[in-house]
Amino acid sequence: MNQIQRRTGNISYAPCPPEEFCGRYEERERLRSLLPRAEEHGQAVMISGPPGIGKSSLLNWLAYDLQDRPGGSRSLVIRAEIFEPPRMIFSAFRKLLYDLQLHAVSGWFRSPFGIEYVKEAARYANDLLEKYAAPVEPVGLLPKTGEEIIGVFAQAPEVEYDRVREGFWELLQALGSLMADSGRIAVVLLDDAHLASRPDRRLLKDIIHDLPPGVLLAFTCQDGGGYEMTDEWDVPVVHLSRMQGHEIQEMGMKRFGLSPDDTAAAFLEETAGDPFSLMACFNALRVRGLAPTPEVLEELLAGEWDPAEIAFDALPEIWQAWAEMLSVLNPPFPVPVMACMLSSPGPALVPITDNLQESPIFIRLPGGGYAFAHHFLQEYSLKRLSADTKMALNAMAVECFEQSMHLIPVRLHALLSLAGHHFNAQDYEKAADLNLELALRFYNREDYDTALILTRQAIVSAEHMGDDTLLAAAKRQRDLIQQKMSDPAGTAQ
Ligand SMILES: Nc1ncnc2c1ncn2[C@@H]1O[C@H](COP(=O)(O)OP(=O)(O)OP(=O)(O)O)[C@@H](O)[C@H]1O
Ligand SMILES: [Mg+2]
Repeated sequence: MNQIQRRTGNISYAPCPPEEFCGRYEERERLRSLLPRAEEHGQAVMISGPPGIGKSSLLNWLAYDLQDRPGGSRSLVIRAEIFEPPRMIFSAFRKLLYDLQLHAVSGWFRSPFGIEYVKEAARYANDLLEKYAAPVEPVGLLPKTGEEIIGVFAQAPEVEYDRVREGFWELLQALGSLMADSGRIAVVLLDDAHLASRPDRRLLKDIIHDLPPGVLLAFTCQDGGGYEMTDEWDVPVVHLSRMQGHEIQEMGMKRFGLSPDDTAAAFLEETAGDPFSLMACFNALRVRGLAPTPEVLEELLAGEWDPAEIAFDALPEIWQAWAEMLSVLNPPFPVPVMACMLSSPGPALVPITDNLQESPIFIRLPGGGYAFAHHFLQEYSLKRLSADTKMALNAMAVECFEQSMHLIPVRLHALLSLAGHHFNAQDYEKAADLNLELALRFYNREDYDTALILTRQAIVSAEHMGDDTLLAAAKRQRDLIQQKMSDPAGTAQ
């Protein structure tokens, strides 16, 4: 391969910063064309497409266009993302309210009446969401037998779902009318809706069906994520597919300073037209100081290739090592746990977070934790681990969570992580009870995906322990969950 370009570091795999966003002109226009409708009636829109196609990046661009762009509408934007199960019920909706409260304290609302009104409505909605999730969220953690940690849970639920829905709707309505007074709209962005738990999905659907005027709700969903039934969801769809040659050229130049010619761009469009693969290819060329000629690209993309592998191979060794070590954790990764995993407790925390913030493969999340910049990188790093290393890293994660428990603000996340890490470390005695107990709570709150994952872990644990009573209880629970999941009346919710 010929050496032409200057050698430099990787560009981040995080969703694209709006100022570097390339192409997608029709899709952007489509989104903008919905704004008048949002003002009049309230409007929802789904951004769909396969993984790595640029859905989260388009959401970033929309946030910028509507809120921050000089000369733009200066609308109010709140944003949240949904994580893979096992995760917490309504955590994304609570993150939306958190964003709103940040806007309120930062002086975004100019009228004092507006601030108080919104703060009050947000507090009320948050209180309802919190109470609804209370039977799942432990109010404390206690050592049970020996060093094993269990949750202390609140009593029976006090809040019916309908009140949650009404509380959230009232907040949106207040926001919409507040914005309308100043000729703006309130924009709610929800990333990765296909990962929503059943209660989250129900709330999302109810909100979509009854959006108040002055509100735009844009959510992303992977193809095949179950939101395609447009009759049921009845929302316009902006579908993203591979980038075209001219968009690829724009991306090469704007983000990497690389200029693929028409032939090279056509080759990329054909073979690696999704933005994640393009990022991987351009980064690989950039760090190796190669020009994006058709020959170089053909060599890079010869035979079977995996974009995550190309991305991983182009990383400095230190990032490869950190990626592998952290790949066993569930996002968001708490900083004290990461620091412990990377064997740098105490004062080394600051350099670790400094490094992570500059990293092309990790991103800091709004709550202060971290995640992989793109889930492909986590999946690939995890796949690289041998069975023994995976087990050892999970055992290390258990230790790190137990040591850092007093520093972790979200107790349920710690418990869910422990349930998974005990199981993956093959510490079945500790995994069995914890998984079964947590699963039952998620089942009671109708988050069947999470309940099933945890119950299956309890079943395998009970089998390994040879505990027939526990095994029978866990299997009964699994059957109940599967029955609920296959109940067509229930899935319509
Ligand atoms: N229009 C674009 N211009 C420049 N870079 C882009 C664009 N769209 C996506 N990218 C880059 O491509 C990668 C994948 O994009 P993104 O994370 O937005 O995809 P996604 O569809 O949200 O993926 P997933 O479904 O897996 O969450 C990111 O590194 C992002 O920076
Ligand atoms: Mg995304």
